[in-house]
Amino acid sequence: MRDGKSKSGLFSTRIAIEASARQSLVDLLNQNLATVADLFSQTKHAHWNVKGPQFWSLHKLFDELAEKVEDHVDEIAERLTALGGVAKGTIRMAAKSTKLAEFPEGVHAGMDVVAALSDAFGVAANEARQSIDKSNALGDADTADLFTQISRDLDQSLYFLESHLD
Ligand SMILES: [Fe+2]
Repeated sequence: MRDGKSKSGLFSTRIAIEASARQSLVDLLNQNLATVADLFSQTKHAHWNVKGPQFWSLHKLFDELAEKVEDHVDEIAERLTALGGVAKGTIRMAAKSTKLAEFPEGVHAGMDVVAALSDAFGVAANEARQSIDKSNALGDADTADLFTQISRDLDQSLYFLESHLD
């Protein structure tokens, strides 16, 4: 650790995963970090701007969902730093790489906000799910387990949202 970054751009670690695989894992985790950080900001945006007869329940639901997403942001970032990577953690960095479309402007009606947020949670959940197999292929069952947990949580949040739309 004292030696700092190696030539590969990774910090050294005693984790027994070879550097090229660790680099691919760090890139995969940073990609998910961007999407999930964006998802956090969009969920807060929905929490602040939703209007209509279901205001109070949606305002509270969105805040609860945002809290869980914020935990995932932290878990993803700290897994990739444990692997020797540098977390691309600012809003500007996230905006460059996120897989989410921007939250549509002028959308305030309760069910329209739920639908827009459902789209965003769906994209993030599916990206995390695809990352399970990619992590396993890179020999990192721990990162695969993290993505399994995150995609399961995002699926549940998506269910809480989609249940309003049926
Ligand atoms: Fe709030």
